[in-house]
Amino acid sequence: MLSHLLHREGVESMVVERRSRDYVERRIRAGVLEQASTDLLKQSGVGKRLAKEGLPHDGIKLRFNGEEHRIDFRQLTGRGITVYGQQEVVKDLIQQRLADGGQISFDTEATAVEGVDSDHPRINYSRNGDQATLDCDFVAGCDGSHGVANRFPPPLEGEGGGHRVYERTYPFAWLGILARTPPATDELIYAYHEHGFALHSMRSPEISRLYLQVDAEETIDAWPQARIWDELRLRLAEPKLQPGEIIESGITPMRSVVTEPMQRGRLFLAGDAAHIVPATGAKGMNLALADVKILAEGLASWYRTKSRVLLDEYSDRCLRRVWRAEHFSAWMTALLHRDQAGDPFEHKLRLSYLRYITKSKAAATTLAENYVGFEGA
Ligand code: PHB
Repeated sequence: MLSHLLHREGVESMVVERRSRDYVERRIRAGVLEQASTDLLKQSGVGKRLAKEGLPHDGIKLRFNGEEHRIDFRQLTGRGITVYGQQEVVKDLIQQRLADGGQISFDTEATAVEGVDSDHPRINYSRNGDQATLDCDFVAGCDGSHGVANRFPPPLEGEGGGHRVYERTYPFAWLGILARTPPATDELIYAYHEHGFALHSMRSPEISRLYLQVDAEETIDAWPQARIWDELRLRLAEPKLQPGEIIESGITPMRSVVTEPMQRGRLFLAGDAAHIVPATGAKGMNLALADVKILAEGLASWYRTKSRVLLDEYSDRCLRRVWRAEHFSAWMTALLHRDQAGDPFEHKLRLSYLRYITKSKAAATTLAENYVGFEGA
């Protein structure tokens, strides 16, 4: 997306991608787009398929204790969300970049970013066993939490501070499946059950995306298909959900991470390289898109005027939204997940808060305005 936005500003870039095109286009990720993300994709000319195939949703359903309550985003906030798989966004962007003559080097592993404090940062990379160096004006570290960009060098002499990483781990993970079965619901169901959290999402009228809270150490071998479906039906309390072919399954750990600041010299981190959220708030892709929109503005301004003012504000501007999303994601996670010990007091507190959300417009609005993307952070 950054490369696409820069291209529209007349700025050339090269994308160094470790994986193959096939891998990144198939890798199943989350699928909720905030209004601001949908707007950005459409306004920048990569939203045609999204407009056709994206599923607009005006609310979600909360299920707990045998009750169901709808949170009406449209009524509470005037906005909604769009369900559209992240890898569909990736496919659309790759296609557009290649059509515009953009350079994406697949199967190319960035091994280090050097010279970030100079005017000539470099990316060292290896491709087909050959080592090479890419000289740049700027480096955007969009290589995820396990990439190389966020390994900042120690602070320069005389400059205090350096970087700080804020982190939280959770004692549970999500087991996610993509299944060939029609969604049993028209809106996402977030369910809290004594056994733990479950989520019913979807990708199309034939394909459902479903998640179960499992312990952090759990492996997929402990979850034969019948157990997955039984547990989904129990926790979601959804008799219409029919088992179908499981196309993909996996266990995703849950983490919260923020690196501050998100920049150093001529290196700027964006997306997961700078921050991770647990998936409960559906924020990951939205934060990444918001980051690169701000970064593209800053870089375009530098190329136009050679002023660093906007670039210097990059991290501060991003982090306000990032921390709002970090709080919301941690809050939704605590609200909807069974703690490992199954503490009955905590269970009762959660049920009470869930009921409060369904009875108080103020509490429902708190959830709704954060879920659709709070723009005033
Ligand atoms: C998804 O559709 O994959 C999805 C939806 C909502 C979430 C997380 C994932 O909170």
